[in-house]
Amino acid sequence: MLPRRAFLTALAGLPVAVAKVARANSLRDLARAKNITFGSEVTCADIADQNYANLVARECAIMTPGIEAKWGSTEPAEGRFRFGPMDDLAQFAADAGLCLHMHNLIWAVGLPNWTLAALQAGRGRAVMQNHIAAVAGRYRGRVRSWDVVNEPIDPRWPADRNGLCTTPWRLGVGADFIMDALADTALADPTARLMINDDDLEYDMPDRDKKRTGYLRLIEDLLRRGAPLHGFGLEAHVKPWLPIAEKPYRRFLHELAGFGLKLHVTEFDVNDRLMPGNADARDALVAAVARHYLDLVLDEPAVVTLITWGLSDRSTWMLRDPTGHRADGLAPRPLPYDLDLQPKKMRAAIADALYFARERPA
Ligand code: G3I
Repeated sequence: MLPRRAFLTALAGLPVAVAKVARANSLRDLARAKNITFGSEVTCADIADQNYANLVARECAIMTPGIEAKWGSTEPAEGRFRFGPMDDLAQFAADAGLCLHMHNLIWAVGLPNWTLAALQAGRGRAVMQNHIAAVAGRYRGRVRSWDVVNEPIDPRWPADRNGLCTTPWRLGVGADFIMDALADTALADPTARLMINDDDLEYDMPDRDKKRTGYLRLIEDLLRRGAPLHGFGLEAHVKPWLPIAEKPYRRFLHELAGFGLKLHVTEFDVNDRLMPGNADARDALVAAVARHYLDLVLDEPAVVTLITWGLSDRSTWMLRDPTGHRADGLAPRPLPYDLDLQPKKMRAAIADALYFARERPA
């Protein structure tokens, strides 16, 4: 009996015709055939372009607002909510038949000054409760899931003895801010599946080992105390220059699944900033890295969602963030479609990974 990977590799040698047939299907349909939900992060700016909007509607079964549901977008001033952009995205999703994975309610990045001042003045619990009631309440019954707390174990802030980072929320609300946020969200929208979302969990490095262990301890404690936590978001902004810890990562995913959580790849892209400049060579490398990561993560049956952080290179966050900038100044190519919305090798890699993924229970 061939080991599974060898069998799949052999299978992967199927005549090109088979792979081409598979790739001709939408990523949504390839995923759906395995009871996986495929989608992408989307912003209002993206769908202002009808061609981009059509691509999202064709390829995706789910979408995540990249900006429009974040604290700074929805409550720029205390008690003054701004829902127009998120309402537009929700309407687009409804019209296109896509479900919504909302992102995010509690994050330490991008908070308006008024919120930081409230946290420092000891009003954190009140502003958290009010914000979540208003924002999660507005979309009650209309969303599949929420990234309730984003990146609470973040090396940008020193960690406390439980490994939780002393972010403004940890300091302003208290050690139980994650339980508070989950409870507030469950109250505001009892139908949504609630998640914690984080990045940088794949790599073979001491601080990532610590992060994986910290999450397993945190989640076990939250669930033991009855937290309404249903899933975990694996951002998967893959950094190919870091070694992936295959066995520890598989074990981490398996243990998360063992808690009864569903797992979701929520922000998939491949950072190409240290790759060669030539577009063909870079696209081939990005596709190979994408396929390797997806084969690994989709081998865990509890992984039921694959969301890329954008569909086209024109919409990647890496254009605006120095951690995505290349020394040669060339534009990043981290996503399945190019600037002209043409499919790249990465799209074929995603299609093949979905085609060869095992079917999940319905
Ligand atoms: O829309 C304004 C524009 O009017 C203004 O002129 C410009 C200059 O200040 O800013 C624009 O807003 C920017 C927004 O992206 C839209 O482009 C914000 O400054 C900028 O901070 C924001 O960055 C987003 C970042 O999260 C912070 O919210 C990125 O687009 C978004 O892709 C990124 O996504 C994060 C996830 O939420 C969490 N995981 C990591 C991921 C990538 O960093």
